[in-house]
Amino acid sequence: MIQPLENKNILLIVSGGIAAYKSLELIRLIKKGGGQVRCILTQGGSQFVTPLSLATLSENPVYTDLFSLKDETEMGHIRLSREADLIVVAPASADIIAKMAHGMAGDLATATLLASDKPIIAAPAMNPQMWEHEATQSNIRTLTERGITLAGPGCGDTACGETGMGRMSEPEEIFSTIIAHFHEQPLKGLKALVTAGPTFEPIDPVRFIGNRSSGKQGYAIATALYEAGAEVTLISGPTALQNPVGVRVVRVETAEEMLNACISALPVQIALCAAAVSDWAPQEAKTAKIKKRRNQTPPAIALKENPDILARLAKDGPNRPDIVVGFAAETENVLENAREKLARKNCDFIVANEISPAEKVFGADENRVHLISAHESEEWPRAGKKIIARKLVRRIAQMLNDFDNAAKVEAAE
Ligand code: C5P
Repeated sequence: MIQPLENKNILLIVSGGIAAYKSLELIRLIKKGGGQVRCILTQGGSQFVTPLSLATLSENPVYTDLFSLKDETEMGHIRLSREADLIVVAPASADIIAKMAHGMAGDLATATLLASDKPIIAAPAMNPQMWEHEATQSNIRTLTERGITLAGPGCGDTACGETGMGRMSEPEEIFSTIIAHFHEQPLKGLKALVTAGPTFEPIDPVRFIGNRSSGKQGYAIATALYEAGAEVTLISGPTALQNPVGVRVVRVETAEEMLNACISALPVQIALCAAAVSDWAPQEAKTAKIKKRRNQTPPAIALKENPDILARLAKDGPNRPDIVVGFAAETENVLENAREKLARKNCDFIVANEISPAEKVFGADENRVHLISAHESEEWPRAGKKIIARKLVRRIAQMLNDFDNAAKVEAAE
């Protein structure tokens, strides 16, 4: 599956603050996002979380001591920073912020930070008075002028019982800041909805009508949209895939449920329907298992047509997303059928692929597609589903940008 932090090494510095427990969840998110994490735990940090928790979650040794023979020979502080693509300080206490601002290097964390030229994200966490203090504010100015990115802090109740600025951002927000560091985000501030996977239409409590869709392409698109900064809802039929990190996932079974979940997710600016929705469902799902009896003719299953989710989303109206993308899996006449579908379903793009047995698409990691709009059609070379997902998202961003520019020109005329 596409992972937004693939091949990325993050050095996480956990300093002293009650918010240190949230960093455990941050490690989990980074790992789930495909990244590697090494942790430095300060003396203060170790009052709140144990090296064992960090080591277990990061699946790496944890470094605590500048003057430890073991730590320095295993992975010196210079190497710790050199091997990282990014350093994240979370929680960043008032103390470590002050030390960073003044170039102090009395312990492993601060020595590593001083000896590093790597980008740094800091997630401040402290009492509101400490945050507001001119000393902290001046240190923060120094750090941001030096190019350090801040994640938070947020406003709210702090552990010390006071309310105000100083609360550490939630792990998901810090994770999003990490993602934004590694990926361009042309879709920042936009909402997207993706359907993926098959639908299961129940015949009785144990049987259903389904199909072989794996959901891989839709899940890859949801992640690519998230990487590009969009707020993504993935509405997924039953799949064996894990929820992609950073994406809100709604699991459904039937087409009817998928449609309702889509409608609840509106309004969105971007909708991509990659699900293989069953065209038909049994007219009624039996409440008891249909029994097989000796010498009985096989039961007939009366079918009804399912709603066309793509067509419903793409229908003109106040809630129509700015861009609606449909998918077409065809065994023959790919382009012709896709063009017809584009017009019939009123969508902006159709991603068409050929699913002849020779192309082996279902369940595979690769795909060969054509991108078809009202004015043009492009054939994309066979590529991994994640590469296609990212390319598609870039095209969507480009199209939205063209819309924006056209609107500006119109307004100026
Ligand atoms: O008509 P056909 O099933 O070939 O169209 C495929 C496209 O329409 C896909 O994007 C699929 O997700 C969408 N679709 C849908 N609801 C249906 C049938 C198809 O959203 N009931």
